[in-house]
Amino acid sequence: MKYYLTTPIYYVNAAPHLGTAYSTFAADLIKRFKKMEGYDPVVLTTGSDEHSLKVERAAEAAGTNPLAYTTKMAAEFISQWAKLGIDYDHFIRTSDPKHHETVRWLFERCEKNGYIYKGSYTGAYCVSDEAYVNDVNPGDPCPTCGNPTETVTEENYFFKLSAFQKPLLELYEKNPEFVKPDHRRNEMIAFVQQGLNDLSITRTNIQWGIPAPVDGHHVFYVWFDALISYMSAVKDDDLWPADLHLIGKDILRFHAVYWPAFLMAADLPLPKKVFAHGWILHEDNKMSKSRGNVVRPGPIVDVVGSDALRYFLLREITFGQDGSFSYDALIQRYNADLANGLGNLASRTLTMIQQYRSGLIPGSAGAPEIAEAARRTTEITMDAFCEFNFSRGLETLWSFISVIDKFIVERAPWKLGKDTSDYAQKMLDEVLYSAAEALRILCAWTYPVMPNSARNIWIQLGMKAPIESVTFADLHWGKLRAGQKIGSVAAVFPRLDASAIVKMESLEVQEKTRQAELFGHAKAAASPAPTPDAAKISIDDFVKVDLRVGQVVSAERVKGADKLLHMQVDIGEAAPRTIVAGIAETYPPEAMLGRKVVIVANLAPRKLRGIESNGMIVAASLEGGKPVLAGFLEEVPVGAKLK
Ligand code: MSP
Repeated sequence: MKYYLTTPIYYVNAAPHLGTAYSTFAADLIKRFKKMEGYDPVVLTTGSDEHSLKVERAAEAAGTNPLAYTTKMAAEFISQWAKLGIDYDHFIRTSDPKHHETVRWLFERCEKNGYIYKGSYTGAYCVSDEAYVNDVNPGDPCPTCGNPTETVTEENYFFKLSAFQKPLLELYEKNPEFVKPDHRRNEMIAFVQQGLNDLSITRTNIQWGIPAPVDGHHVFYVWFDALISYMSAVKDDDLWPADLHLIGKDILRFHAVYWPAFLMAADLPLPKKVFAHGWILHEDNKMSKSRGNVVRPGPIVDVVGSDALRYFLLREITFGQDGSFSYDALIQRYNADLANGLGNLASRTLTMIQQYRSGLIPGSAGAPEIAEAARRTTEITMDAFCEFNFSRGLETLWSFISVIDKFIVERAPWKLGKDTSDYAQKMLDEVLYSAAEALRILCAWTYPVMPNSARNIWIQLGMKAPIESVTFADLHWGKLRAGQKIGSVAAVFPRLDASAIVKMESLEVQEKTRQAELFGHAKAAASPAPTPDAAKISIDDFVKVDLRVGQVVSAERVKGADKLLHMQVDIGEAAPRTIVAGIAETYPPEAMLGRKVVIVANLAPRKLRGIESNGMIVAASLEGGKPVLAGFLEEVPVGAKLK
């Protein structure tokens, strides 16, 4: 039986970050899990959402045309997903002509069935969310994302969304699995019960979009265009309807209300399930490009590997709820669960088999209590994974690891190894077989979450069948073959210390610069206009400015102000200075700690968000771009004057 699942298609005006990688990791996990459950084929679609006003504007800001821009950005997503080991089948770009055709086909089907009409609309529009916003005044911030709204008046084609209130409520009622988790389903029911306004699905103020098959210049509204990509990606295969759309909670309304309405209007089958996960937070806020608090996956993968990152995100955060990311928490969990937990179990088990049984799996039925614990573990983990409750599944697997660790300590194989009696040797066989069989089962279970590491341990265990081909039927206790020769043993998760964090942070700064250049945000400043003589200053004027070398001793964000950093800077005085600077979108607090900067020390104090700033940090200010801090290539002492 087939299983077709999708990630959202990603806006290409921002590079992938941990938030966007989260949807993709989870989809990859589910794909691998469904294969193990026996579905065949299991097909995963991801892609890029390339049309819209914000992409048009981003391309313009980068000094290029939208297609060239989106081609480059889609390639960046493809290369990042490769780096993260995402096993997708289709990458659909909405600029693909095959997709354009499908969008027009959807429109024509809706039109034929009487759900499209021409009308005019004036209202507030949020460019960031690509959505009309009700109940705000022109220019007010968008209630969802906080960015300013714009007033738009347009003659557009409308979709009769209002006709679908009853059918949608019936859908949620009859099919409680359609929207998950349940609290999100309740939100959608409440939203639809309030009544639905018709939806304007074409735009006249955008060039970069799919032309609608109507008179005059109309391109499709980006969501009418984007949602059907799930279908255009697999149009030639027999895969529709999708079994699962995996999305973040911020785009649930589009998937659980608009999308089924479009499909019903076009007489097309509905997807089976829409699952909305929560947000990855960083420094207490949703990680997002517009907040400037993103962490990129690439540097983390370079230091700890993609499996450790996947494990962290899926173990630490209950799927469906929000949860925080920090480098510290990542390293702590890595050491506790991976280095000391699974990694240690693998290396001690395999080393003992090497030492006591010349690398051959001993013959034994295993200890009944461990066999029973394995059976229970599989049962609970299966239920948890089926409900997409990955953190509970992983917690269950790690409790099983503790059970085996305790069992090994209690049975003390190192003592049994010294006792040559038949009884002791039989006991030793039982301990070693139990630990190895438990490890085999753990490998199979952790494979969807950590494919590379699970494969690595699997091979060390001497398993011949590729781990990719394992199904849950292979998980019964006792399937590990006696006499199997294990492979060579090597640590899978070496312990990490704080230097890993320093490394990730410094790679993050490099990656940020690379992506800023790629996305065209770091455009060089236009040459400054020549200064008229009258505006020149004398050396006496210049020496009035007290410029000093400072070192940042602490840095934190200012609550409610995305751009501001509140720092204590040592400039060689009795106590560090408080300085508030508008650099937080480019320099997160952790990038500033210990950094040497140039400070204007004799500026009159100024209050910013209630904090008195006693000095100014010197930075190059690129036109339309981000600040770049002045610094030194050689060592300089704190407090040194600049002349
Ligand atoms: N292009 C639309 C989706 C169209 S689907 C037909 C879009 N793109 S997005 O790039 O802004 O977001 C893609 C996905 O990433 C969404 O599911 C969103 O919820 C998810 N995330 C973006 N930031 C996130 C976090 N900080 N945390 C978790 N997921 C978040 O919306």
